[in-house]
Amino acid sequence: MDGNGRWAQERGLPRTEGHRRGEKVLLSLVEECLAMGVEALSAYAFSTENWRRSTEEVRFLMGFNRDVLRRQRDYLDSLGVRIRWAGRRPRLWRSVITELERAEQQTRNNTKMTLYMCVNYGGRAEIVDAARHLAEDVRSGKVAARSISEDLFASYLDEPDMPDVDLFLRPSGEQRTSNFLPWQSVYAEMVYQDVLFPDYRPEHLRAAMLEFARRDRRFGGYGQK
Ligand code: IPE
Ligand code: MG
Repeated sequence: MDGNGRWAQERGLPRTEGHRRGEKVLLSLVEECLAMGVEALSAYAFSTENWRRSTEEVRFLMGFNRDVLRRQRDYLDSLGVRIRWAGRRPRLWRSVITELERAEQQTRNNTKMTLYMCVNYGGRAEIVDAARHLAEDVRSGKVAARSISEDLFASYLDEPDMPDVDLFLRPSGEQRTSNFLPWQSVYAEMVYQDVLFPDYRPEHLRAAMLEFARRDRRFGGYGQK
């Protein structure tokens, strides 16, 4: 979800106003994904690098994440969305963790779609944390080093059930992945769109889906042609 700050600055508004506008955009994308039968949607809400921002903006984003979860939990639950949190615990506000865990708990039996809220998430952090836990299990004898495979390693990631990314979308015109889901995205189709997140509409998502459908995915093989 990128481009909130620029959207606000273009209008002479505080950056936080851009973040605020993102709430209903995210909701509209969840609704569109449900309508299209998407099984999993991951949203990058706050990265392990976003702590570099000003104290005021970080404070706003913490409170905002907490409030969005509080405000939208029942609605998302009513849609049949299962909410999962991917990210690191240290530094994250206690109240944000509480809301994330409450949302996970309340929606745990929903099956229409999974919404992965990536909050205090970083791809390298996720891989390093997984490596550390795996190393502890090897040391304690629970896992034999020779049995480490891609599947076993992936089971140590924050959300082991998260499927590989098919379509990796980034709005705002930037063309980089910024530490989002590196393990899961090795064969993702990248679609970069030149629209700031507060202006992002379901039509943009549908356009990205059409672009995705045109791609020839070969996964290192020969594909279907
Ligand atoms: C939202 O957009 C992403 C978050 C970290 C919440 P930005 O805040 O990165 O907006 P730009 O990129 O500065 O325009
Ligand atoms: Mg940005």
